[in-house]
Amino acid sequence: MINKINNCEMKQRNTFGISAKCKTLFEYDSIEDLEKIIESIDLKKDKIFNIGSGSNLLFTKDFDGIMLHSKINDIQIEERTNESVLIKVGAGMIWDDFVALTVDNALYGAENLSLIPGTVGASAVQNIGAYGVEAKDIIEKVYCIDLLTNKKIVLANKDCQFGYRDSIFKHQKNTFLIVTHVSFRLQINSELKLDYGTIRQELGDQTPSLSLVRKTIIKIRETKLPDPKKLGSAGSFFKNPIISTAHYECLKKQYENIPSYEVENGRKIPAAWLIEQCGWKGKRVSDAGVHPIQPLVLVNYGNANGKEIVELAQSIQQDVQTKFNITIEPEAIFI
Ligand code: EPU
Repeated sequence: MINKINNCEMKQRNTFGISAKCKTLFEYDSIEDLEKIIESIDLKKDKIFNIGSGSNLLFTKDFDGIMLHSKINDIQIEERTNESVLIKVGAGMIWDDFVALTVDNALYGAENLSLIPGTVGASAVQNIGAYGVEAKDIIEKVYCIDLLTNKKIVLANKDCQFGYRDSIFKHQKNTFLIVTHVSFRLQINSELKLDYGTIRQELGDQTPSLSLVRKTIIKIRETKLPDPKKLGSAGSFFKNPIISTAHYECLKKQYENIPSYEVENGRKIPAAWLIEQCGWKGKRVSDAGVHPIQPLVLVNYGNANGKEIVELAQSIQQDVQTKFNITIEPEAIFI
């Protein structure tokens, strides 16, 4: 099935709920259909953007080009051993439907990533992460089509250049890879990862199980993060910045309670804390706002446009820069 929509209104297709038009949107539910679409478009003439469920996007203007939206959502078991199962999943499947399926089938690995909005394809592009786990920890292969050659390519995990909310799919130079399927290695038996944040606290004296961890993560997310169906947002709008140890030591003298995590190349500071310290938590400018519980999330109270969200983000960035000499970068992708 190919569904072509000209002059497509995108408000319902981005979780920020920003109104914008796209010149042409193609939906497809098979590789064959994607190949047909690629043959029909003129890459020299049209800008192309690959859109999932729009949960990490900010429309700042109309998009005068072609958007491709995968609805490929088949599932196949590629391999089964005594310890693990390799599952190949269509890029268009809703991420949390996939996580639910793994938990229902007693497979370990994806449970801490419960309730993250978005699609399976975006999980690889964005290397989504939460509660001590990243998609890269369970991704084994990514199946793609290169738009420039219309050829199929399979990338192994090590070739995907996964980083913090980053992958090769965000830095394409001589390719234009569209993810069609992702293969995940899930364990039949494994330890649960309970050491991040308040997971253990929430569990209390209940015996942890796969399904209980999923329920607990969902509960934590529901209390901290806005439901995009009720309040528009793109999840974390900013990435948590990494600063040098020397910079951190200097700040620690002035702000003795500054939270931080040790990482390979310095210290990661929660952007939520920096934003709160600058007095932005819960602030609202017209319909654009900073979430009152998780200030890392910018929200649309109804009719904010992309420009208003960008202006709010810039004011926050400037204040964090001035107060802490730290640059916070958006995690959301601007169109
Ligand atoms: N904090 C504050 N004030 C607040 C809220 C939080 O100072 O109002 C500080 C606290 O020190 C807290 C720390 O921020 O300990 C960390 O907060 P939290 O554990 O909620 O996570 P985060 O670092 O703010 C990251 C991801 C989230 C992910 C959570 C849980 C990024 C950009 N965000 O947020 O991912 O769900 O960890 O693992 O790395 C997303 O990417 O869209 C997303 C929601």
